[in-house]
Order: sequence, then structure tokens, then C-alpha cells
Amino acid sequence: MREKRRPNEDEILALGSPLARRVELHEEIGSTQERARELARSGAPEGTLVVSRVQSGGKGRLGRPWGSPPGGLWMSLVLRPNFEARLAPRITQTAAVAIAKVLRALGVEAGIKWPNDLLVSGRKICGILAESNVGRGERDPHLDFVVLGIGLNANLDPEDLGAPEATTIRRELGRDVDHMRLLEGVLGSLERELQRISEAFDDVLDDWRMLDCTLGERVRVYRRGETLEGVATDITPGGALVLRTDRGPVEIFEGDVERLRSQGP
Ligand code: BTN
Repeated sequence: MREKRRPNEDEILALGSPLARRVELHEEIGSTQERARELARSGAPEGTLVVSRVQSGGKGRLGRPWGSPPGGLWMSLVLRPNFEARLAPRITQTAAVAIAKVLRALGVEAGIKWPNDLLVSGRKICGILAESNVGRGERDPHLDFVVLGIGLNANLDPEDLGAPEATTIRRELGRDVDHMRLLEGVLGSLERELQRISEAFDDVLDDWRMLDCTLGERVRVYRRGETLEGVATDITPGGALVLRTDRGPVEIFEGDVERLRSQGP
């Protein structure tokens, strides 16, 4: 399939999004995440956006490689949130809600899998990576900056990703989408949802629960060499997944979740 027209920097700046005040567009780069972090370290403001058509060294959570051939939306954003470091997981939760809403508006029934995946019928369509840099203030540690990376499988086939178990917008809709409109939708949705972190985070969590596809399921969680099993029952405002285990409820802050089977009636 011929590649759809891709946005240019002026078009993105013309959106007037506070999340795209400064834009770097690359044909190919190692990782937009690394580049955005470099820019943030040298003082780039909130709303610095790095997008690349291809990433040669895209990275996922826990340092895993992230395949990034042409056709996907590979982007990283510099955020400078005005809240304490302990609230940083809210960025991942909120971004997941924002992207799930964009996908659903396109007709792709995406659900959130804790902590940072968007799935369609169990197949991954998007990964989110929020990496914080914590400054040491006189009082509580504060967030110096957060680099929010989004890898959205858009106009490509799962085989292009070397991950036939994944899915893409093209696979779900049977057509490609306009990259510029997709980016506009993502920026708009992120802007709306991120705004709610300080104003109405309980509402974001309610949306998260509604969009989630893990709650109520029996899951196995792998964390730091340990395996836990139980039913995922909730998420907390601190970003933890609550698991009901034989030994009582456990809050999980990191790990990989594998769904075991549906809970029958
Ligand atoms: C995950 O699910 O493990 C998170 C994947 C995040 C991938 C995105 S693509 C844009 C940005 N640049 C990177 O190197 N990673 C993130």
C-alpha cells in the first residue's frame, strides 16, 4: 500500500497545540524518546514534540526493543508537570485514556491493559512509555520533566512490525488513516486529559476503569523474579493494579500482566 502523506513541521505548529510548541520531525532517528530527553535536559520547554517516520532503536518498557518501521506514529513529548514525583504514574494512566479515546473515535475498540498497553481483542496496538526525571527540591522530590513516548501502530501491517501477534489501525479498519489528523487527534486528546490530572483525576480513573480490559480477569503477574496470580480488581490513584490473591489484596506497581482466563458467571 502506498504510504499516506506525512505531516510537516509547519502544519504541526499551525495546530497551535500547547503540546506541540516546538516540533522536530525526523525521517529516521534512533529513538524519539532519547532525543526528547536530550532536549529536555538542555532546557526544552513543555510541549516539545519529537516525531520520526522510522526509529532504528525504538525502545519499550523495561528496555525492550520497539519495532518502528514506516507507517506508525512514533512520537515523544516533553512535559513539565507541576506536581510531586510520586504522582508521575498518573501521566501513563491519563495518556492511556487519551489514546484509547482517539482510537475509539476512529472506530477501533481499544481497551487499556495495565500498566501501559492498548489492546484490541488481546492484540497490542499501542504502547506508552512515560519516563520521569526527578529534581531534588528542598521539600518533596518534584518532577523536573517527563518524556511521554507513544508508539501507535497505524498505517502498517503486524508483519511489518515483526510481531504478527500485534495489531494496527490498518488491520482493524481495513484502511489507512491520515497521519496529520491522527497526530492532531492524539495531541488534542492528550491536552484535554492531561489537564484533568490536577483538576479531576478521579474522573480520569473512572474513564480508565471503563476503558480497561484487565479488571475482573484472572491474571498472572511477573514482577522482579516473582510470579503472582489473582483477579485484577481495581487500580489506585497511585497507579497500582490491585490483585485479589489467596493471601488477600496486593498492590502491584510494576510487572507484566498475563491474562489467564475469563471469570465465568
Ligand atoms: C511499551 O509498550 O513497551 C512502550 C513502547 C513505547 C514506544 C514509543 S515509540 C516512540 C517513543 N520512542 C521510543 O523509543 N519509545 C517510545
